[in-house]
Amino acid sequence: MINIALPKGRLGEKVYALLSSIGYECSEYSENNRKLIFRDEKNGVSYFWVKPSDVAIYVELGAADVGVCGKDILDEAQADVYELLDLNMGKCRMCVAAKKDFRDDFTRPLRVATKFVKSAEKYYSSIGREIELIKLNGSIELAPILGLSDVIFDIVETGVTLKENDLHVITEVYPISTRMIANKSSYKFKNADILALTERLKGAIK
Ligand code: PRP
Repeated sequence: MINIALPKGRLGEKVYALLSSIGYECSEYSENNRKLIFRDEKNGVSYFWVKPSDVAIYVELGAADVGVCGKDILDEAQADVYELLDLNMGKCRMCVAAKKDFRDDFTRPLRVATKFVKSAEKYYSSIGREIELIKLNGSIELAPILGLSDVIFDIVETGVTLKENDLHVITEVYPISTRMIANKSSYKFKNADILALTERLKGAIK
C-alpha cells in the first residue's frame, strides 16, 4: 500500500485525475464529500487530503510515503524529504513586488511582508540586504498599500492580483512548480513501489 498526501483543492484534484489514469484509481474516491482518506486495496493505494502547506510535514514524518506540493511550500517547510519529480503543473514565480513609486532606502532595513518567512530570509541574506519581516497569512498585497511594508515576497501566477492592486514585480526570484516528494525511509523500504509510481507519472506528464 502506498500512502499519498494530496493538497486539498484544484491542484490535488488534477493530480488525482492523473494518478487515477495511470493505475492508481481509488474506488472510494468522490469529489463531493468531506472524507479525508480514500483507500483502494486492489490498486494498493490510499490518499489523504491535507492542507497544501502541510503536505511536506506529513511526508517528512512518514504519515504519507509520498506527497505532492508546490516548490514554494517545500522550500518554506525545509522538510527532510526526497524530491522525486517535477510534475510541470502549478507553475508560478516567487517574486518581490511593490508599489510603482517604491524606491529602496538602503539607510534602513527593508520591510518585507510575506507568508514565506524562511524563503524570504534566505533570499535577502543571499543578496546581503537587511530586512524586517512581517509575517502575514494571506492577502499579502494589502501590506504595501496600507504602508505596513515596503515590498511583498510572494507567489505570482497570472499577475492579476498585483495589477488589480496597483503593484508590480521588482524581482523574479525563482520559478515554482509542483513536485512529488517522498519520505526517506519509505523510499528505502517501498522502493520498488515508489519507483514504479514515479516512472508511470514521468511517462504520463511527458
Ligand atoms: C496567491 C498569492 C497571490 C495570488 C497570486 O494567493 O499569494 O495573492 O495567489 O495569483 P495571481 O498572480 O494569479 O493573481 P492565494 O490565492 O493563495 O490567496 P491568499 O491571499 O490567501 O494567500
